[in-house]
Amino acid sequence: MAHLLFSAFFLAAQTHAVPKEYFQQTEGEVLDSLKLQVGLLANETENYPPQVKPPGTNRRIPQSIIIGVRKGGTRALLEMLDIHPNIVVAATEVHFFDWDENYVKGFDWYKNLMPFSYEHQITVEKTPGYFTSPLAAERIHEMNSSIKLLLILRDPTERVISDYTQVYYNRLENRKPVQVIEDIVIRNGALNTKYKAIQRSLYDLHMENWLKYFSLDQIHIVDGDTLIKDPLPELQKVEKFLSLPPRIMPSNFYFNQTKGFYCIRSDGRERCLHESKGRPHPVVNNTVLEQLRAYFREHNNNFYRMVNRSFNWH
Ligand SMILES: *[C@@H]1O[C@H](CO)[C@@H](O)[C@H](O)[C@H]1NC(C)=O
Ligand SMILES: *[C@@H]1O[C@H](CO)[C@@H](O)[C@H](O)[C@H]1NC(C)=O
Ligand SMILES: *[C@@H]1O[C@H](CO)[C@@H](O)[C@H](O)[C@H]1NC(C)=O
Ligand SMILES: *[C@@H]1O[C@H](CO)[C@@H](O)[C@H](O)[C@H]1NC(C)=O
Ligand SMILES: *[C@@H]1O[C@H](CO)[C@@H](O)[C@H](O)[C@H]1NC(C)=O
Repeated sequence: MAHLLFSAFFLAAQTHAVPKEYFQQTEGEVLDSLKLQVGLLANETENYPPQVKPPGTNRRIPQSIIIGVRKGGTRALLEMLDIHPNIVVAATEVHFFDWDENYVKGFDWYKNLMPFSYEHQITVEKTPGYFTSPLAAERIHEMNSSIKLLLILRDPTERVISDYTQVYYNRLENRKPVQVIEDIVIRNGALNTKYKAIQRSLYDLHMENWLKYFSLDQIHIVDGDTLIKDPLPELQKVEKFLSLPPRIMPSNFYFNQTKGFYCIRSDGRERCLHESKGRPHPVVNNTVLEQLRAYFREHNNNFYRMVNRSFNWH
């Protein structure tokens, strides 16, 4: 069985461009993912052993999706929501609605990537690329126009630096040349507004597209800066939004001094986010920082008006 699991895994890894985060998971998570991937390849009508598919469960398309934003804290949010007994989460970033090569495979392909769940449970998927994708909103609306969407955001300037930091470490690991952030953000003395990381932080422009398809009360915004510092209140708001009984408790979290943020205690297990999360940011030249903040200011105000809510962004 183990051999079958692994060959299935490598086949899946080669043919489906498995997102990088896939490889940053713990062994338990990888095993869960393997089971998922086997489901992908196996005939759905086959019998699964009960430890894989408990009696009475089925795969279901998500009733809620974490749509972004990249580097907003989507992994933390998903892992924390997974504490709730009525929530089941997809193990990998599916990239169904934002990548055409996946979308053409159809809803059955998508559903087969979801975990098994009981009828009273909510299936949640997260793909941070959806929020900034020009096509995802319309496609999700087509699947379920009354779906509940979760969007986790943080200070757009911090998000740019975090985005840069992730790419920086990926390039280091792959022995590719790296640049200091100032050289990317500033071109010919002016802000390089074509830089993808900057464009992803223009929340008002992306939100405008989502509000063409969904009403504001279908999109719950999680404050990513708050979630990291004090998770419970933000998670209680999500429980309310999803009409779930409050089941996430203070005892589900403990602060890890070394990591500098909260880890999760649930089902007698303790787990922290992967070490690639919460990396220290580089010190950024103050002039450049101010240029970024000035550029986002008007977009932020626009966004606050759009969502009838303000945030403590610079
Ligand atoms: C799956 O299995 C069922 C029953 O054995 C069979 O009728 C069906 O053709 C199979 N489908 C595929 C795609 O292999
Ligand atoms: C669509 O989403 C809503 C809200 O989560 C849910 O109640 C409903 O069951 C979903 N419909 C389908 C077909 O999944
Ligand atoms: C706290 O974080 C450190 C550094 O990531 C890790 O090695 C350690 O296992 C964590 N401790 C607990 C109790 O989670
Ligand atoms: C920051 O960048 C500006 C130009 O954008 C430069 O004039 C200034 O000396 C830099 N400050 C530091 C501390 O490097
Ligand atoms: C905006 O939010 C306030 C409370 O925060 C609420 O009273 C008001 O109805 C909201 N307006 C709209 C248009 O949603």
